[in-house]
Amino acid sequence: MAEYETVQHEVLIIGAGGAGLRAAIEASAAGVSVGIVCKSLLGKAHTVMAEGGIAAALANVDDRDNWRVHFADTMRGGQYLNNWRMAELHAKEAPQRVRELEAWGAVFDRTKDGRILQRNFGGHRYPRLAHVGDRTGLEMIRTLQDHGVHQGIDVHMEQTVLTLLKDGERVVGAFGYDRERGRFKVYRAKAIVLATGGIGRAYKITSNSWEYTGDGHALAYHAGAELIDMEFVQFHPTGMVWPPSVRGILVTEGVRGEGGILTNQEGRRFMFEDIPENYKTQTAADEEEGWRYCQGDKNARRPPELLTRDHVARSIVREIKAGRGSPHGGVFLDISWIKARVANGEDHIKRKLPSMYHQFKQLADIDITKGPMEVGPTTHYVMGGIRVDSDTQMSRLPGLFAAGECAAGINGANRLGGNSLSDLLVFGKRSGEFAAKFAKENVLGAIDDQQTAAAAREALEPFDRGANAQGEGVYRVQHDLQEMMQGLVGIVRQEEEMQRALQGIQQMRERAGKLGVMGNREFNPGWHTALDLKNLLTVSEAIALAGLERKESRGAHFREDYPDKDPAFATVNTVIWRGDDGAMQIRQESIPQMPDDLKRVIEEMK
Ligand code: FUM
Repeated sequence: MAEYETVQHEVLIIGAGGAGLRAAIEASAAGVSVGIVCKSLLGKAHTVMAEGGIAAALANVDDRDNWRVHFADTMRGGQYLNNWRMAELHAKEAPQRVRELEAWGAVFDRTKDGRILQRNFGGHRYPRLAHVGDRTGLEMIRTLQDHGVHQGIDVHMEQTVLTLLKDGERVVGAFGYDRERGRFKVYRAKAIVLATGGIGRAYKITSNSWEYTGDGHALAYHAGAELIDMEFVQFHPTGMVWPPSVRGILVTEGVRGEGGILTNQEGRRFMFEDIPENYKTQTAADEEEGWRYCQGDKNARRPPELLTRDHVARSIVREIKAGRGSPHGGVFLDISWIKARVANGEDHIKRKLPSMYHQFKQLADIDITKGPMEVGPTTHYVMGGIRVDSDTQMSRLPGLFAAGECAAGINGANRLGGNSLSDLLVFGKRSGEFAAKFAKENVLGAIDDQQTAAAAREALEPFDRGANAQGEGVYRVQHDLQEMMQGLVGIVRQEEEMQRALQGIQQMRERAGKLGVMGNREFNPGWHTALDLKNLLTVSEAIALAGLERKESRGAHFREDYPDKDPAFATVNTVIWRGDDGAMQIRQESIPQMPDDLKRVIEEMK
């Protein structure tokens, strides 16, 4: 029998970013005992990479905004593949969640009359992003953490969960290990919320840090939950491209929201070229109007840099491929030009974008108040994830809930910037509430020793192989996978390449199965990476398989061999699950009809 320590909570949250913390707060407020598991240290989460703001129709800057417009924007941005009920709940509840965050101590930027300031972001019709300079995600984590720890939530730091434990179909616990000492742990719980974030580490260029290996997606999938829409991976248009050591680090969309413009090597604002007719003239008047828009002029047209992310990312790739890119393989993003338009221009930029100022100064020796940045697309977010009930966030497995990036539905084919943070708040809260309810209505399930023993055996296999392994290092396999996903299942895709990726994944799975690690279980990064690889391979396979299934281009999924939208896929989600033989299965499933009242909202907004 495997040796392990057992901890017990009524609700266990796996993942301690915005969604996990918000879930923990809600569950704890409902009176159940809560434990939260972090893969690294509390507070270190990809949430902080949503820098520019939280999308919520507070209507503080433009009083025409309301939940209906936010709902319609979200659905349009997601190309109507969204779970409409989630989009409705999200648009309706986001303002309340933001005000609550303010009441818990988040220090937002302010309008002149003291209300929460909101800025423009791509695809949002009105200035909607409540922000704290360009550190909104960080402030959100700080606030939730402060609030949560005072509620008596137990925090388990530097733990990796390897498998979910089941009693029949119900999820009743999790098996993992503590990264520092390498000792096994069983978490018993009446309900579990997965809030593990994304899959960015499946790609070479990413804004995600090392933790984001698709753990929640893979845990749920292997336990028998379904994944949907995994083909939709968001490549944020602007990540750093230089120097190489910081490639992929996020450059917030807030730069463009504050008036930043994208230009190519020829100095042309190329985004003007592929947008509706009325922009094409690209006269000085157009440029002036874009600036007025960023300053809150209600009658001005949106500048082309604020089209949706999928569109901007593809336009940047087009410029680079055509040889019109910047010296280090990106394009130029310039905010310094606004100095001429505002009093104390340099201070204004530093005040609005303090992190960007420091990031470029310290990492690239570039002063963004004086000249342009070099930027290019970076893997940022996955729209696909664990299929959940729209209201309760429970997966198809009783007792297993999911929230935030690892859950799917709200974003459809493409997420609007800032909707991530509001999603975390709205559905983090809901998952905590319904997990607590489930915990109150159910007793603890039984832990099956055979499952824990099998999980322990599998975890230790790399040590068993040790020196007998065929000499390949774990980082080589991880690197090859990231390189392959970047090249074959990236921003622009095609059949033959994705087929090759699927074959490559099978070969890498075989290679991963032969890997050995040396040393002992005390903090052993090679071992950790070997264990994470299983999840990376699972999510990579899901992305490639779903990408092959969707034979059209829509939102973040662009296929060179099917460059147009196909009506046959217009109302279809792709659904992935683990078959009885252990192989990944896929089917298409029609999205349920939207109720008439929501259809009317969309019609009105057109
Ligand atoms: O650009 C950004 O600040 C990112 C925001 C987001 O992904 O929601």
